Amino acid sequence: MSNLEIVRTVHELRDTVAGWRRAGETVGLVPTMGALHMAHMALVDEARKHADRVVATIFVNPTQFAPDEDFSSYPRREARDIETLRDHGVDLLFAPGVEEMYPSGFETIVDVPDISQGLCGDHRPGHFAGVATIVTKLLLQALPDCAVFGEKDYQQLQVIRRLALDLDIPVRIIGLPTVREADGLAVSSRNAYLSPADRAVAPQMHVILTGVVDRVRAGEAVSVACAAGHEALAAAGFSPIEYLEVRTADTLLPADQAAAGMPLRALAAAWLGETRLIDNIPVV
Ligand code: PAF
Repeated sequence: MSNLEIVRTVHELRDTVAGWRRAGETVGLVPTMGALHMAHMALVDEARKHADRVVATIFVNPTQFAPDEDFSSYPRREARDIETLRDHGVDLLFAPGVEEMYPSGFETIVDVPDISQGLCGDHRPGHFAGVATIVTKLLLQALPDCAVFGEKDYQQLQVIRRLALDLDIPVRIIGLPTVREADGLAVSSRNAYLSPADRAVAPQMHVILTGVVDRVRAGEAVSVACAAGHEALAAAGFSPIEYLEVRTADTLLPADQAAAGMPLRALAAAWLGETRLIDNIPVV
């Protein structure tokens, strides 16, 4: 249980963080869109390992949702989230409104065009520019020593690593392995949308990705292993399947452009009913 401070303006955020800095304390940032669950708390616990003070942010960022996506219905449970953050010893919650983050006249966009291309980028136009812009703002507002993101949103993580490097933002970006339910399903706020029948099928995405990785490790051509994975997803009931691909782990190039020895990652996105699921695992 912590003495959680809640602020809604950049000015208050900076004031509190500056006070900690003057006292010689380090700061870890955990950006979220709320609807907090155990995977978010794993990010908080990780930040705590690296910093004296933990700042969580809750902001459902409108610019990373396409007009036909779930911005308006995205779960918002601030009162419950505040209790969860307090129980986990978070020091500060920054929960700004849209006007604070995007005041009238706002027009700057941060774009990381190559890593944002393909995979989710092809199916969610503008999504990564929205993520890159808001994360850049949060990093510059809080100026943390480290910021922690989940590997579940793997392309997002690579976009954020790149922008921090390119823009010389003095922060260590930490990626945390995906937190899973006991049956392997990657924990996500959107799992709440799954019907009981779809929830029973959902863990198959992890099972099938693991099968693809096993085949690639055994020496099968990536294209053959991915085609088999695609078929298995369809047979399990995923539709449409947006992608199942193996890419280089850092720059997300197609596997056939990987230099020898480059680490690879298998990634998938597909729908079950009204729910879009994504997952990824390392190949080598
Ligand atoms: O992963 C998320 O929850 C969001 O994309 C993030 C990083 C908080 C930016 O809005």
